[in-house]
Amino acid sequence: MNTEKLISTAKALVADDKGLLAMDESNPTCNKRFAKLNIPQTVEARRAYRELIVTAPGLGETISGAILFDETIRQQKKDGTPFLKVLVDAEIIPGIKVDTGAKDLAAHPGEKITEGLDGLRDRLIEYFQMGARFAKWRAVITIGDGLPSRSGLEANVHALARYATLCQEAGLVPIVEPEVLMDGDHSFERCLKVTEEVLRNVFIQLNCQRVLLEGMILKPNMVLPGLTCPPHKEVKEVGVGEQQYQVRLKDRQPDESSDVDEVADATVKCLLRTVPAAVPGIAFLSGGQSAELASARLNAMNVRFKSQLPWALAFSFARAIQQPALEIWRGQETNVKAAQQALLHRARCNRAARRGEYTSAMEET
Ligand code: 13P
Repeated sequence: MNTEKLISTAKALVADDKGLLAMDESNPTCNKRFAKLNIPQTVEARRAYRELIVTAPGLGETISGAILFDETIRQQKKDGTPFLKVLVDAEIIPGIKVDTGAKDLAAHPGEKITEGLDGLRDRLIEYFQMGARFAKWRAVITIGDGLPSRSGLEANVHALARYATLCQEAGLVPIVEPEVLMDGDHSFERCLKVTEEVLRNVFIQLNCQRVLLEGMILKPNMVLPGLTCPPHKEVKEVGVGEQQYQVRLKDRQPDESSDVDEVADATVKCLLRTVPAAVPGIAFLSGGQSAELASARLNAMNVRFKSQLPWALAFSFARAIQQPALEIWRGQETNVKAAQQALLHRARCNRAARRGEYTSAMEET
């Protein structure tokens, strides 16, 4: 294991207030998003869309690393230039999703286990030889009645830790992603408790499996109430005056049901309790929040806490960077430039959020 290289790659992924662009949707996920916009669900459409992303002019000014899917890492621009070369030329570090997806966990109704450990060592060697320098594995934790179960949680964090050690052996920085889903009617407080429990167990397992903490990045969810959480439930559990809260919640969309500063405070509190200072960076997933809220919440964390934290607070968004661009593109060549501008805009907003300089006025320009 080349410890120094791992550490320098991990640091580079969160350097200069940049962040990661997750463009590693599996084919079924990508196709689902295309279908909603009547974009053909073909290899060529996926290739064209990914070409739009990697060739967005100046992307490397805001994005440090891009996470690719197996199909994408092997693809080229229309003129034959490999995407990997395009990224490296733009000073963007190529990364690769290496899990093979979340499947139903046997005897655990409602819970998933992420697969992909079999044969992983050989796949990592191949990806390293191709030019990837970091990898991603996503574990999915569902909050529900009696969920997550102890055994479901343990199975998922164990797999994450096994993946992370194999990555480091192969010279790839592991992005360790335990995602507590927003789906459900759970309260803000419950998300805080579950996320804390998950992260505590993640680091126990990472230590057991001898993962070098300085050579990894954590990719967690922000602490948020469930998408269908009734507002009054949240009010009671967080202990804020009910009247005051109901007034504030009245005109908000479902995923806006928490105050930006409150999300920032709870998320940072949770991370301070669980993430060792040796970890160089924490890059959040967006998880289905709107693009603007994801930026605003990351911004609030950096405004309020940046100077006191041992790790960088960055982003590793997929939907919160890509979705506006995808909606503009809609599979049409004539929309490529406008879609690229939308993508770059979101990347710039998130870089500003890392600096604590994001404002809603940025959305009007
Ligand atoms: P979202 O930002 O869309 O949640 O995706 C992040 C990701 O990489 C999921 O694995």
